[in-house]
Amino acid sequence: MSTDWRPPPPLPPSSPERVRGVLGGSLLYDQPALAAERARLEAFIAGPEPLGVEVGFDHGMRILERARRQPDWRWLGVEIRRARVDAAAPHAPENCLLWRADARAVFAALLPPGRVSLVEVYFPTPTENPRHLLWTPGFVDAVGRALAPEGRLVVVTDVEGLHEHVGALLQGWTEAEEPPAAGALSRRERVCRRDGLPVYRRCVSPPSVTR
Ligand SMILES: C[S@@+](CC[C@H](N)C(=O)[O-])C[C@H]1O[C@@H](n2cnc3c(N)ncnc32)[C@H](O)[C@@H]1O
Repeated sequence: MSTDWRPPPPLPPSSPERVRGVLGGSLLYDQPALAAERARLEAFIAGPEPLGVEVGFDHGMRILERARRQPDWRWLGVEIRRARVDAAAPHAPENCLLWRADARAVFAALLPPGRVSLVEVYFPTPTENPRHLLWTPGFVDAVGRALAPEGRLVVVTDVEGLHEHVGALLQGWTEAEEPPAAGALSRRERVCRRDGLPVYRRCVSPPSVTR
């Protein structure tokens, strides 16, 4: 893992619903071929329970354990790698949907304003490709819109430069208390603990101006 990561140069701006670089195009879910997938997501998030979202769940250990321990919430996992989703999805309890998608499209186009109570991003990829960069002003705005006013965003990384980059994007957000632990560590979290690597954490609530 690079210890001197710096954000790649930003892409030219685009409208909020058209996120540049997104897998399949950010208007992907407007295509008729994906109507059933979109309906599946919309039905899942329509329930009255609080909604938690984990971005980049990889093997899914954290979100699957969270969903088992907190059956009174709904848990949506968004992961871009199909093989990971296919492997983890059969283990998901009824209150957990593991979905193959680019989180940037999901937040920009699919999650209703104020619907989400918790967003967790554990060890986001420290990419050097601007088209793959998750942490942009547009993504932060979209997360801020999707979160309820008292909702929380948790970002955890072992890359100091990424921690600083995310911190700069989250200026104006309010420091918040972290939710209880999931009950299982993510794969990278285990590695960091085993190797004694420093881990940087942020837990914040959105500023009111983003809704
Ligand atoms: C460095 S890994 C960390 C995985 C896991 N959260 C952990 O802590 O071990 C980053 C994960 O985010 C996923 N990912 C990267 N960009 C994504 C995006 N735009 N939308 C959804 N998932 C993404 C990757 O496929 C990968 O599984």
